[in-house]
Amino acid sequence: MTQREQWGTRFGLVLAMAGNAIGLGNFLRFPRLAAQYGGGAFLIPYFIALLLLGIPLMWLEWSMGRFGGRYGHSTTPGMFDEMWKSKYAKYIGSLGLSLPLLFAVFYTYIESWTLAYSYYSATGAYYSTDVGLDTVAASAEITVSQADAANPLANSATNQFLRDYQGVSDPGSRVYFHSLWPAMSFWLVAILLNCWVISRGLSGGIERLAKIAMPLLFIFAVVLAVRVLMYGTPDPAHSERSVWAGLNFIWEPQFSALADFNVWLMAAGQIFFTLSIGTGSIQCYASYLKPDDDIALTGLTTAATNEFAEVILGATIAIPIAVATLGVATTQAVAAQGSFNLGFVAMPVIFETMPFGRVFGTLWFLLLFFAGITSSVGLCQPLVAFLKDEFGIQERTSAIICGLTMFGLGLPIVLLLKTGYLDQYDFWVGTFGLVVLALAETVVFAWCYRGASSTESFWHEMTRGNQIRIPTFFRPVIRYLVPAVLVLLLSGWVWQSYEDAILLRQALPEHRASLWAARISILLVVVGHGLLVHFAWKRREFHSKKVE
Ligand code: PHE
Repeated sequence: MTQREQWGTRFGLVLAMAGNAIGLGNFLRFPRLAAQYGGGAFLIPYFIALLLLGIPLMWLEWSMGRFGGRYGHSTTPGMFDEMWKSKYAKYIGSLGLSLPLLFAVFYTYIESWTLAYSYYSATGAYYSTDVGLDTVAASAEITVSQADAANPLANSATNQFLRDYQGVSDPGSRVYFHSLWPAMSFWLVAILLNCWVISRGLSGGIERLAKIAMPLLFIFAVVLAVRVLMYGTPDPAHSERSVWAGLNFIWEPQFSALADFNVWLMAAGQIFFTLSIGTGSIQCYASYLKPDDDIALTGLTTAATNEFAEVILGATIAIPIAVATLGVATTQAVAAQGSFNLGFVAMPVIFETMPFGRVFGTLWFLLLFFAGITSSVGLCQPLVAFLKDEFGIQERTSAIICGLTMFGLGLPIVLLLKTGYLDQYDFWVGTFGLVVLALAETVVFAWCYRGASSTESFWHEMTRGNQIRIPTFFRPVIRYLVPAVLVLLLSGWVWQSYEDAILLRQALPEHRASLWAARISILLVVVGHGLLVHFAWKRREFHSKKVE
């Protein structure tokens, strides 16, 4: 076996892990969900899900990764196989290769928008001639055509800009972009940057990137948060529109929302997304720990860093400033339109109205880009590591393989965005898939795994070598509560999305073929990785026979 890589320093590991977790989820997805689901109403289920699902699963993944590393496995097929002596284990584990790759495919595309938007903020490309606070608020109050009635910013120039950039507006009505070339170019740059980082290996690429990008990210976020706090009440005629009203909206608990099952589903989903749980990415990073390294304190530190970035910094930027400019109701309506409206339509409108808006706009999108790239390299790493472990392929080659796959699978996302192709990926991979893998790993680790002797269990493995004690309370939580809640979540999603996301009832007939193509591509990637794992194990058997 060749010498496996290791993290350079513990600080580097913490930064890389935090970089993995802190992403577009923290600064785009979280504020949007919090705004849409009633601010303070969202936070209670969110924190409960953090404590009862997020933290235990995070420890489980860290310890599974460290365990795998001891046997030379960087990815879940090998880890599952080592933990559960069944010939099926490795195939189920192959989800920890296909899911992160599929995730990387759509994530990198969105990440490329943030790169593009930092450039367009600097050049002022989305600025329209006459945007003052009056126009912004007025456009928010305009009742637009039936179809867009729910979107208060439907008439704004920044909405036009985004839709033109994405190529989803009608070709005849385009103003800013007339082709997809700009979007494609930024996308290629983002893919190349990702490939470049992963080609430099673990400590030379990923860790080094985190050491540069993470401190910058925090500086940008703090600068923006301070700027937002100083924004006060921008329009004295509307004293209800203020930063304080925005903060109040997020932090005032509303217990009535607890009865809404939907809010629980969304909150739990966000915990998965933001902590990077259920993709195999954390396990892969943790596999480079030494067998006796601490996971409890280090894991908790990175989760806490992620939560700080999410609920303190993430929540202090987009929502309060949107509320200060547009008011609570409009902010909620904008958020209900999806993650991109808050980040790419409302925020640019706001930057246009503030002094030095270009500077702050550039900072905001660069912040998103740094958050994104430190996550997407983590999504690429499992495949890269697997190819190295099993086939001896070097990072440079696997980075090319990874880049080409992202390009091939991502092309329809770029070209067919309008049909909802991306949303299929978001649902099946980014929402559903994560929970499936999390359920599988909990069952395999907490139920099927038998340590060296019959008295050992997952709990021994998890509590070994730690610098803080994981409270015993988590033992039954992981064994019983977590799998039960995961089953509930899966059924909840199936029930809730049955009509739309699963049966595609709402989809336009002309978009159906494209949505099916998205599903088939996902399925092919999942099956393909199962086969890859199959070959890898055949190869192992062959080699071990030769040695005998
Ligand atoms: N946690 C990242 C975010 O918040 C997304 C991610 C999920 C990254 C899974 C890696 C693995 O954006």
